[in-house]
Amino acid sequence: MSSYQEKLNTDMQRLDKMLQRVVGPQNKAQPPNSDNSTRILNLACGSCNEAGTLTDFFAKMKKPELGDGLKKVELLGVDVRAREIADAQRRFRSGTHTEQNIQKDYQFLTGDASKLDSHRALDEHFDVVFMRHQNFYNGDRVWEEIFEQALAKLKDDGQLVITSYFDEEHQLALNAIQKLGGQLIDSQQNLESRKLPTIGKSVDRHVAVFRRKE
Ligand SMILES: C[S@@+](CC[C@H](N)C(=O)[O-])C[C@H]1O[C@@H](n2cnc3c(N)ncnc32)[C@H](O)[C@@H]1O
Repeated sequence: MSSYQEKLNTDMQRLDKMLQRVVGPQNKAQPPNSDNSTRILNLACGSCNEAGTLTDFFAKMKKPELGDGLKKVELLGVDVRAREIADAQRRFRSGTHTEQNIQKDYQFLTGDASKLDSHRALDEHFDVVFMRHQNFYNGDRVWEEIFEQALAKLKDDGQLVITSYFDEEHQLALNAIQKLGGQLIDSQQNLESRKLPTIGKSVDRHVAVFRRKE
């Protein structure tokens, strides 16, 4: 296995642990309670390294279905960069994983996450909207629009989960999302986060979860 792949695998194990800390059953934010398929919208997903981790995590959180016993999870990823979306499409294929009793349905779209209404696949609402390494610091107006869309795409009891690379950007995003109508449920620092070359930046350094204010 390449050292890049090893790093990626370790990052994913740590992300899974962070998800357990913020949306696991013992936490302030309970896992989504959908009867049917759990629907995840991953905005600004890049090549969506986290697709398998997210679908596995939310399948684990789900009660087994009646009937066929399969836990169904759908993930729809959106990013403006077509090359990254093509990479995600190549790596993550829908299918049934019989050993884990999970049916996964992946879809990846090239598009602007600040203008989701133009996509037909996006006219439904989601149990979870996820944004890994949101980029609020590098274009606050566009990211405010993306945050607005993220909140608007949640089911009434849905959850928005974000991760951030550095402390200031995380705090700015927390403030912006709360101003736009998000209610912060929990925010936790990842103490195992892998350091990046830029001082103060690290992978999934913070993870926060919101619901929409009533
Ligand atoms: C810091 S990267 C994070 C990528 C990925 N989530 C990850 O953690 O590896 C930010 C991502 O935002 C995407 N992005 C920026 N503006 C966007 C927009 N308006 N709509 C969709 N994606 C956007 C970029 O293409 C990039 O993939």
